Amino acid sequence: MTERVQGGNMAASVGSSFWLGKETLRVPAALFALNRTRLCDRLRASNNVPEKSIVLLQGGEQTNRYCTDTGVIFRQESYFHWTFGVIEPDCYGAVEVDSGNAVLFIPRLPESYAVWMGKIHPPEHFKQKYAVNEVRFTDELSQVLASKNPSMLLTLRGVNTDSGSVTREASFEGISQFEVNNTILHPEIAECRVIKTDMELEVLRYTNKISSEAHKEVMKAVKAGMKEYELESLFEHYCYTRGGMRHTSYTCICGSGHNSSILHYGHAGAPNEKTVEDGDLCLFDMGGEYYCYGSDITCTFPANGKFTPDQRAVYEAVLKASRAVLNAVKPGVAWPDMHRLADRVHLEELTKIGILRGNVDDMVKVHMGALFMPHGLGHFLGIDVHDVGGYPEGVERIDLPGLRSLRTARALVQGMVLTVEPGIYFIDHVLDEALANPAQACFIDNEVLARFRGFGGVRIEDDIAVTANGMELLTCVPRTVEEIETFMAEDQHGAKSFASNSNQKP
Ligand code: GLY
Ligand code: MN
Ligand code: MN
Repeated sequence: MTERVQGGNMAASVGSSFWLGKETLRVPAALFALNRTRLCDRLRASNNVPEKSIVLLQGGEQTNRYCTDTGVIFRQESYFHWTFGVIEPDCYGAVEVDSGNAVLFIPRLPESYAVWMGKIHPPEHFKQKYAVNEVRFTDELSQVLASKNPSMLLTLRGVNTDSGSVTREASFEGISQFEVNNTILHPEIAECRVIKTDMELEVLRYTNKISSEAHKEVMKAVKAGMKEYELESLFEHYCYTRGGMRHTSYTCICGSGHNSSILHYGHAGAPNEKTVEDGDLCLFDMGGEYYCYGSDITCTFPANGKFTPDQRAVYEAVLKASRAVLNAVKPGVAWPDMHRLADRVHLEELTKIGILRGNVDDMVKVHMGALFMPHGLGHFLGIDVHDVGGYPEGVERIDLPGLRSLRTARALVQGMVLTVEPGIYFIDHVLDEALANPAQACFIDNEVLARFRGFGGVRIEDDIAVTANGMELLTCVPRTVEEIETFMAEDQHGAKSFASNSNQKP
């Protein structure tokens, strides 16, 4: 899993990397060293961080199923992962802001660990593995930190603007003897996470590559009569066996037919259990996660490999919105404007289909776009699928239909990674409300709309990185109707030779 530089017993093992063998990606420990450097640089530049400050983070804890002793597979807490890249639970980490020195604190494991869980590694092992300056035990936290005579411990307390939940602030016995500030760190580290380094981008390219291939496997395999969960399983199998991805970045959404209109289908109460039927549209939103870095990709395609005229019309409306946004993305562009752009394209295309009638500017005034795309156009992506930093101080949520669901309202900056995920859905609840509202009902041709009741929905979701003058498309799957139909008609071996033209910047 870790690799030392050949012949080297190097201090702070510069050559350490995370690697799961075979064709999986090597991720250098230097990625996290650079993250720490960036964080320290930012904190030092801030007026309210005194000299001799120390950042203190608490890693995620190993948990069990409820009251049992059955362990849940551990996944590191995201801020801790960003800072240290440590895969083990129950650790702490400290970074001295002035020097950037990193100290990892590991739990002192009981002897029984050696029987049930495997070898107990000494601190030196972790020092090499994670390229930190020092490794101590968590029961030494108080003493080690006191020996550094810090002016202040900077702990992490802040609200995740997607969930509304508050981060878990580091705490340990003896912390009361230190001066602690829990407000400075959160906005600074969240801001660091928003802009991806080249090394982070490389991991996100990898998660996208593997997840794109996994989606293609699913498209090749889908047949009427299969259960949605069989396709979920195939995706996960491909990601794990070919990509070393033990986790997905979120619960797989494998909606077929009507279920394709349920935005977050696939949860415990609706666990991808429907039988896929001939004539269904499949909306599969799935992304693999490697070493805690995610991906978030949606492919929509007909289960039988051939779009009906109505399916094609709605699909192409969404594709047009997607490509309009990809064309317009560049530094300085306000993300809500991209959402508005997608809405406008949808409304124009829905008018061409005949579902809507009237003037598109007038439709925009009564928020018709949100009837068909009730979610935001896209969000930051990184260690979390809905990555942090969407609403820093000074950026306000726009409290209007559709736009209020945006997970960021920021202007784009080079190095941001986002999803672009326009969609058109026919959701009875939403449509019935609109038909009961004369201000909106006047734009709807109910007779044409009736044809689309039960149609489901279309979402096209790509991951992009903002570059100096545009964007890099990270996702590579068949996207046009022709590409999808040709790809699905090829035999299994043809899957390997597919190269999508539509994945170049249009
Ligand atoms: N997969 C969840 C989302 O698209 O945001
Ligand atoms: Mn998604
Ligand atoms: Mn998404």
